[in-house]
Amino acid sequence: MIEISVKAGSAHKQRDDAVVLPLLEGRKLTESGRELQAVSEKAIKAFLRKFDHSGEFGALHTLYDLEGTYTQRVELAGAGDEKKLTLQKLRALSSKTARKLETSGARDISLYFPELNVKGASLAEKVQAVAEGIWLGLYTFDKYQTKKKENKRALRSVTIMIQSRRDLDAAEAAVEVAKAVSSGTNFARDLGNEPGNVCTPEFLGDQAAALKHKKLKVTVMNRKAIEKAGFTALLAVNQGSAKEPRFIVLEYNGGKKGDAPVALVGKGLTFDAGGISIKPAAAMDEMKFDMCGSAAVLGIFKAVTEMSLPINLLGVIPSTENLLGGAAYKPGDIVTSYKGINIEVLNTDAEGRVILCDALAYAAEKKPAEIIDFATLTGACVIALGSQATGLLGTSKKVKAGLKKSGEHTHDRVWELPMFDEYQEQIDSKIADIKNTGGREAGTITAACFLSRFVDDIPWAHLDIAGTAWNMKGTDISPTGGTGAGVRLVVDYLMKRNG
Ligand code: BES
Ligand code: MN
Ligand code: ZN
Repeated sequence: MIEISVKAGSAHKQRDDAVVLPLLEGRKLTESGRELQAVSEKAIKAFLRKFDHSGEFGALHTLYDLEGTYTQRVELAGAGDEKKLTLQKLRALSSKTARKLETSGARDISLYFPELNVKGASLAEKVQAVAEGIWLGLYTFDKYQTKKKENKRALRSVTIMIQSRRDLDAAEAAVEVAKAVSSGTNFARDLGNEPGNVCTPEFLGDQAAALKHKKLKVTVMNRKAIEKAGFTALLAVNQGSAKEPRFIVLEYNGGKKGDAPVALVGKGLTFDAGGISIKPAAAMDEMKFDMCGSAAVLGIFKAVTEMSLPINLLGVIPSTENLLGGAAYKPGDIVTSYKGINIEVLNTDAEGRVILCDALAYAAEKKPAEIIDFATLTGACVIALGSQATGLLGTSKKVKAGLKKSGEHTHDRVWELPMFDEYQEQIDSKIADIKNTGGREAGTITAACFLSRFVDDIPWAHLDIAGTAWNMKGTDISPTGGTGAGVRLVVDYLMKRNG
């Protein structure tokens, strides 16, 4: 990730390769822009009059060697209608601008975006959004492209300019938060983007173990240890795979001793072919992303440890492939779970809930204050919400309310689906305790109903990230592939939960 710092100072005095100023709709400049216009009057005015640049959102126009400045170029970045600005628009604007300047030959730039007015947002929030937009927007995953173009004059540093020296401390702290959150998000993206032949359960375990912090303890169980511990549902799904499963436990104790942790549980299905209930071929490659729940958990641990947040966290990740080997579990099989609940397997492709139930039961046993799980759990969630919102379900009004608030704030958005008691009947089994599918109706909800049987009375929220964890079209702040969904959301949630 490139270097980002903060500074206060006038635009015409900056010596960076480029000075970037916002231009609002109606060819309106912000304060620093007006100051610059005063210094170099004719040029900016003439430019604004002559050219067809009215401040359209995302457009970028360059003025070279402007009178009265020390910079090579002044970039006017279209910021649209100021009344419509949000923190997410600020992220998108910063991402777009950084991407364009990345190949422009400008190596060090200063950016005057925080002086844009965003309704209800503090300066620190704006600075954080700008920094996130840059770091998230510049993310690439090109390690397997042997002929990638080398960019000798790639963007190297960005100075985020603020108006008052008094706000420097707050702005610097905001950049630190953005850095941790972005590094966690980009880590989650990396894990998701890695192909299934690289990102195996063993690989996920190694990645977890490589997270280092003096208050973090990581335990990675192999097949033997998993058998001994009794995670039998995870083992059932693993039967069709030639690769060993892993059960990963992360314990971070940055908070008070004895304070119950927040437990984060993530689905780590490193490739989901569906098993014997095999998936169709189209887009099956995308099922390498079926471990994005675990990637979110690891990304959050990365961010939290980088900030050394004063909280206690428990992470639990069950990991396996879902394949079709000769020993694979089959439709009709009845498998038992760590909690002792017997599961009638009607569809081997509903494997996420089968591995998660052991992890949830294990987490619940540790008596955490609450449990939040992350899973690319149901295709039905993609149909219901598309790629714009993560499905939110669960038993705790309080946790769900906090997640909704953080979802709005971070734009890592969630939308709640109901869990009325009546839905539970859809997973009653005639021959075992529960079935692993509840039929075609309300597929996202019945999957959550299944999970709910394993969390006891621990306050619990479930995030179905099936539609948000990756995006093959890319978004304003993410290129094609893994998005890191859930990381910004829950890091913000944990920080606010802690006050
Ligand atoms: N990993 C899939 C869910 C999924 C599908 C996520 C498409 C993202 C895109 C999950 O394991 C699965 O296959 N679920 C089944 C459940 C069904 C058999 C009850 C589904 O949603 O089709
Ligand atoms: Mn599946
Ligand atoms: Zn799956």
